[in-house]
Amino acid sequence: MIALACDHGGFELMGLVKQFLDEHRYKYKEFGTFSTESVDYPTFAVPAGHAVAEGSCDRGIFICGTGIGMSIAANKIPGIRAALCTTAFMAEMSRCHNDANVLCLGARVLDVDAAIMLVRIFLNTGFEGGRHSLRVAMLDKM
Ligand code: RB5
Repeated sequence: MIALACDHGGFELMGLVKQFLDEHRYKYKEFGTFSTESVDYPTFAVPAGHAVAEGSCDRGIFICGTGIGMSIAANKIPGIRAALCTTAFMAEMSRCHNDANVLCLGARVLDVDAAIMLVRIFLNTGFEGGRHSLRVAMLDKM
C-alpha cells in the first residue's frame, strides 16, 4: 500500500501518478489534498507519513510545488526516510543506499515523464543492505 500526499502545487501531478499506479495495479491510500485550492503541505505529509512509519502503508509518494516542504515535513516523523529526488540516479540511490520509504517530488520542478520515471524507479528498486544497513539504523536511532 502506497501513501499518497500532495498539496495544491502537487495535485495535478498526483493525478498522473495515480494513473500510473492504477495501470500497474499498485494499491494506494490517498491522504489529500483533493483540489488546487491553496492548502498547507504539513496537513497532508503528517498523516501520510505516520501511515508509512506505523506500517499501514509500505511506501509514500508526496508531492508539492518543489518537493521541499513535503520532504522537510515527512523527515520530522521518526521512521521516515523521505528522499527528494530529481534524477533517476537519485531515485535509485534513495532506495539502494538509503532505504528511502517516501519519495518526494516537485511538480513545479519536474516534467511529467521525469516524475513518472522517478516513481517507477522508486517502486522497483530494492535496498542493498550490507554497509548501508548500519547507516540506516543510525538514522532510525536519531
Ligand atoms: C506552495 O505554493 C508551495 O510553497 C509548496 O507547494 C511547496 O513547494 C513547498 O515546499
